[in-house]
Amino acid sequence: MFTPDLPIETERLHLRAFQPADVTDLHAYFGDPAVHRYLYSEAPADLDGIREVLARRQQRTALREQGDAIQLAVVLRETGQLVGDVLLCWTSAAHRQGEIGYLLHPDHRGRGYATEAAQAMLALAFDRCDLHRVVGRLDARNTASAQVLARLGMRREAHLRENEYVKGEWADEVIYALLAREWRDRCTGTTPVGPLTAPTGG
Ligand SMILES: CC(C)(COP(=O)(O)OP(=O)(O)OC[C@H]1O[C@@H](n2cnc3c(N)ncnc32)[C@H](O)[C@@H]1OP(=O)(O)O)[C@@H](O)C(=O)NCCC(=O)NCCS
Repeated sequence: MFTPDLPIETERLHLRAFQPADVTDLHAYFGDPAVHRYLYSEAPADLDGIREVLARRQQRTALREQGDAIQLAVVLRETGQLVGDVLLCWTSAAHRQGEIGYLLHPDHRGRGYATEAAQAMLALAFDRCDLHRVVGRLDARNTASAQVLARLGMRREAHLRENEYVKGEWADEVIYALLAREWRDRCTGTTPVGPLTAPTGG
């Protein structure tokens, strides 16, 4: 079980739990079909759909068992504006694997906010959760996302040809990854708190 201390502060960002009052700001980017172009998701049809998405994000504040995710609102420290979200999913307890993801409002791209927020999630994954490997998975056409992962120092490990049928067409998937020892080589002086363990009993 891992619950991060929130908010997480980075140089320009404040990463915090989603709140009910975020519905309008979430709608501003998650309601935009262009944001979903290379994702499995679709833009919700109305504000009720956005409220359901928001309710799920509000729940994602701890890693209790594999499959859980921490999904945080990306807020500009300077203005307090919510401009996107960032995610760390615990994909395997046995293999200590995680996955990161991110979304930004189109008006706030090109400033490095996704890279800065995702870097904080890698720190959580490796320094706090003792994960062994973290991946980023994307549609091969999503070059903006590939550049985020490359900027984070992640290794492009695979290009899977037409391995998924998404939104009516075959899509290639690309996988980037980083190992804990590669992360630590870059950030000397950090100490892992302890491994996440799978729930016992029941
Ligand atoms: C993927 C996504 C978050 C990338 O957004 P982005 O703005 O390109 O990424 P960043 O916030 O890291 O910004 C990087 C850009 O800012 C520039 N930049 C400016 N200041 C910077 C800084 N201080 N640090 C890093 N980059 C900076 C970089 O040069 C880069 O610009 P370039 O692409 O012209 O080279 C965005 O395209 C998006 O939300 N897409 C839709 C959702 C999606 O596909 N998510 C990924 C799923 S796999």
